[in-house]
Amino acid sequence: MTQDNKLSLAEKYWDYFKIGAAVNVNDFSGIQGELLKTHFNSITAENAMKFGEIHPEEDRYDFEKADAMKTFAKSNNILMRGHTFVWHNQTSNWVFTDKNGREASRELVLERLTQHVKIICDRYKDIVYAWDVVNEAIEDKSGQQYRETAWRRILGADYIQTVFEIVKAQDRKAALVYNDYNNEHPEKLEKTCHMLEILLKNGTPVDSVGIQAHWNIRDISLIDNLKRAIERYAALGLKIQVTEMDVSMFDFNDRRNDLKLPTDEMLELQAQVYDDIFSVFRQYKEHVTSVTFWGISDAYTWKDNFPVFGRKDWPLLFNVSGAKKAAFDRVVDFYE
Ligand code: XIL
Repeated sequence: MTQDNKLSLAEKYWDYFKIGAAVNVNDFSGIQGELLKTHFNSITAENAMKFGEIHPEEDRYDFEKADAMKTFAKSNNILMRGHTFVWHNQTSNWVFTDKNGREASRELVLERLTQHVKIICDRYKDIVYAWDVVNEAIEDKSGQQYRETAWRRILGADYIQTVFEIVKAQDRKAALVYNDYNNEHPEKLEKTCHMLEILLKNGTPVDSVGIQAHWNIRDISLIDNLKRAIERYAALGLKIQVTEMDVSMFDFNDRRNDLKLPTDEMLELQAQVYDDIFSVFRQYKEHVTSVTFWGISDAYTWKDNFPVFGRKDWPLLFNVSGAKKAAFDRVVDFYE
């Protein structure tokens, strides 16, 4: 038993893929810090490296948090994922506004983005093995291919290729990732493959697809969808990174908020779902290069405020006290 207590998730998966967690600067001490050091060999800044956080004003970068993450990672043999360059959220308006308060030109936004990418890559590329270059560019609405964003409006229809080329010019080593949610769902999978085929045909330096994996215990199509998605992306010659995994206790449309604790039935179902998911990841280990959880333990998760503000959720492998849940035991319970 003592041996089991020491069992490290990242070590157990050493021959498979990296095991990551999304982090904040207050995660580096106490129980969260111990969990990170024991079980993870990759971290992603949950917010600190987003454009609006790290570069809030044109002439001001705020590197403090990202630097602290890099220091922690370095001293604990952990690598980082860089999240994220081009996204419609958490990007300050100054990027898209000129000095007269009008919408900035394509040239100006390109110049700003290039400068931003250069500064971030120069500072972090020694520890970052993958960049989420473009995040969530596909439209969810049926029949529409791309999300209408300021980036797309200003940079033009081929902006995704342009952005990948900008990042590639600054970091030739890291994996460049297109990251999105629900991109294992059949319709979004088709849209994503359509986009990727065009990008690849045009020689865009895209290496991997990021499957965010914000999932839940009630999705009965998940496993079939996931296998099909991995096969489709792999057939394009791309690797897969699971970038923001959590398995919520609630179906996305379930807005009820009356639970203080997860029920035994929920915890058991969650363990089963995690078991099934990780079996698929292992089966496709040639293609899957990292699996990152969007948090460390149930003590803190963004799901506590999304999609229902203030509703406690328990989507991770460690409970609110940092103890292993049944889901953890199932994920490490394999002999291959
Ligand atoms: C979320 C963070 O977890 C929250 O703390 C923040 O308030 C909003 O963003 N897709 C992404 C992540 O790519 O960056 C998002 O992270 C969750 C959805």
